[in-house]
Amino acid sequence: MDSAPVSDNYYRDLAILDWLVELGANEAIGEVGINRYEMPDPTPAKKAAMSKPAVAKTTPSEPTQIGTEALADACFDLDGLQEAITNFDGCDLKRGAKNTVFADGNPAAKVMVIGEAPGREEDHIGKPFIGPAGQLLDKMLAAIGLSRNAEDAAQAVYITNIIPWRPPQNRDPSPEEIAVMKPFLMRHIALIKPDFLLLMGNPATKTLLDTQIGITRMRGKWGEVAGIPALPMFHPAYLLRTPAQKRAAWADLLSLKKRIEI
Ligand code: URA
Repeated sequence: MDSAPVSDNYYRDLAILDWLVELGANEAIGEVGINRYEMPDPTPAKKAAMSKPAVAKTTPSEPTQIGTEALADACFDLDGLQEAITNFDGCDLKRGAKNTVFADGNPAAKVMVIGEAPGREEDHIGKPFIGPAGQLLDKMLAAIGLSRNAEDAAQAVYITNIIPWRPPQNRDPSPEEIAVMKPFLMRHIALIKPDFLLLMGNPATKTLLDTQIGITRMRGKWGEVAGIPALPMFHPAYLLRTPAQKRAAWADLLSLKKRIEI
């Protein structure tokens, strides 16, 4: 039997359908499809707010562990940074980890995703976001046409974490651990030079936007990290536990898509 030709948009459309099913939209209830990409034209006040970052804060590396900043600043490319982090012994989390999880995706990407720290699967394989939360992240990104495997920078993402080693029992990294590793993260961002940052969950948001406000209030509000527009979103692991919040995540993804297309 001849198989039907696969259209150019087949995989993109399939990813969108996948994501809609994730959102719980698994029934057709209207006669006419709703175009959810169509966002209402923002009011003038909102438009002004969109052009100005809601949280205007540039955070140069804070004085943390003496020496980390100097080590990070001495890295002039990604290989050098990866080597410096892999050889760094100033964070105890390294002792319990199997692998140093550096990054994944296309370094030329316009969008850089920042997570928290590796989990079990990530520690095992040595790549960020490959467990269940990572699989959801891939679906979310695919729904707006982005992929860590894309060669074209316009469709690509680059993914890393604040902390490259798995914390024991997946506990949250401590403020001290984050402070020690932050200069490496800032250097990582400076080397990638993305157009947009996607901050996944509380630790990434609090660390990079230098705020104590929780993700429930911060999500969807564009801020700035070292001059780069940054969007806080719910972490995919949280979305797996709290599917009702996928709707908010979808709104945030559309906000990113809109900015990318400007
Ligand atoms: N959660 C994260 O924040 N990062 C990973 O790499 C995996 C799960």
